[in-house]
Amino acid sequence: MLQFLMKGGKPLKGEVTIGGAKNAALGILAAAIMTDEPVVLENLPDVSDINVMLKAIQDIGALVDRLDRHTVRITAGTIQTQNVLFDYVRKIRASYYLIGALLGKYKVAEVALPGGCAIGARPIDQHLKGFHALGAKTRITDDGALHAEAQALTGRHIFMDVVSVGATINVMLASVLAEGRTVIESAAKEPHVVDVANLLNRMGARIKGAGTDVIRIHGVEKLHGTTYPIVPDQIEAGTFMMAAAATNGDVLIRNVIPKHLEVISAKLLEMGCTVQEYDDAVRVCGNPDKTYTNVKTSPYPGFPTDMQPQTAAVLALAKGTSMITESIFENRFAYVAELNRMGADITLCEKGDVATINGVSGFKGTDVTAPDLRAGAALVIAGLCAEGYTSVSDIKYVLRGYEDFDVKMRGLGAQMVTVSNEKEAEEFIRATAEPEEKQAAEFIRATAEPAEDQSAEEVYENFVN
Ligand code: EPZ
Repeated sequence: MLQFLMKGGKPLKGEVTIGGAKNAALGILAAAIMTDEPVVLENLPDVSDINVMLKAIQDIGALVDRLDRHTVRITAGTIQTQNVLFDYVRKIRASYYLIGALLGKYKVAEVALPGGCAIGARPIDQHLKGFHALGAKTRITDDGALHAEAQALTGRHIFMDVVSVGATINVMLASVLAEGRTVIESAAKEPHVVDVANLLNRMGARIKGAGTDVIRIHGVEKLHGTTYPIVPDQIEAGTFMMAAAATNGDVLIRNVIPKHLEVISAKLLEMGCTVQEYDDAVRVCGNPDKTYTNVKTSPYPGFPTDMQPQTAAVLALAKGTSMITESIFENRFAYVAELNRMGADITLCEKGDVATINGVSGFKGTDVTAPDLRAGAALVIAGLCAEGYTSVSDIKYVLRGYEDFDVKMRGLGAQMVTVSNEKEAEEFIRATAEPEEKQAAEFIRATAEPAEDQSAEEVYENFVN
């Protein structure tokens, strides 16, 4: 039972360094297998989604050498099969990038598919639209894998019906070695889409316009090896920005691209917090009198849906009433019930896409459960603000996207640990309880199971004397 356990009430202060972007790295790992030459990736986040992807790449035959915790060399010339049917790949959505990469390189791919997930159905119709346009045929196999195959892949002008990060990246992967020119209209513009395109261009691809809504790809014969540092994680950075604001702290967040954080900084300024931008860092100072604001998620450069839960945790402690509209996923408010158990006052409209948040003066610590990755981060932020102790269970979701989350928070003065059993939890509580809390904890323990031959009065007498 892995849990985060924290004692709230301390403003976060100090410096934290942001790692590489998980959502860029997942597409980049797939792109790296499109050449037979070595590709060295730096600033790779050590999180479970990345390690699952690396295992899948290794299990189909590529050489994967971890040069250090955040640097990996991939040499894909030894790939034996284009069938990625291991059960564990169903755990990560981004396994579908292996379809685009294997189809693009070998003209055939078969990859076990994930189902929907906590935040939504997560359809892949736009990915398929792109593959079909390029000349591939696809089918779902009897054991729920997606099979894609093409005699040849030919560039096409593709009009996406939905702005999709995954589909944009997957069509880029499938088209970089295709014959001729591919144009992707209504492309996603997220920083991680741009990072995948930058890596592919470093490998010899010819991609223009990544970061705009029209991406042009001229197919090339082959790709070559390179060394590439993953872009800093916009969402990890934003999460620490919100944690600094929620705890009324003062945190310098290093190794970021401030441009990627502008819309998050803007919301913090609207709340009355302060944000100072430097070349590769931002400094966030909270404000005990922070006030309400409204948020509507939308594709980049709009407010990131992946920052929505964390922002709600801050607004739940701001003065006034805030509204959050989630326009990307159909079920991204699962954390609301848990925050309300901590004392938040959040209600959802009937349709479930708008949350009304009435700011409260504080949270009370309790036991909560992470329903998904970013909701788990939001519950940690809430626990760091709450009076008393908060445990967050099901942190396997959080470990998918945050490396050393408790270590980094402790570096900012948070009283937060990862515990795997009751004993470790008790040790943490004993080590952090105030004297009066200690006494109370001891008294509760002493009276929890009174000895058979002692009355409660006698137990109390023994305790206080
Ligand atoms: C990526 O998911 C991220 N995941 C998500 O981050 C992020 O929330 C999302 O982009 C939006 O920014 C990774 O990069 C691994 P989409 P993705 O395709 O690509 C609909 C996190 O917390 N859609 O941009 O799956 C879809 O239902 C995760 O790190 C279709 O209708 O998101 C959604 O409503 C959570 N058909 C919208 O588009 C399709 O074929 C945006 O989804 C594809 C998507």
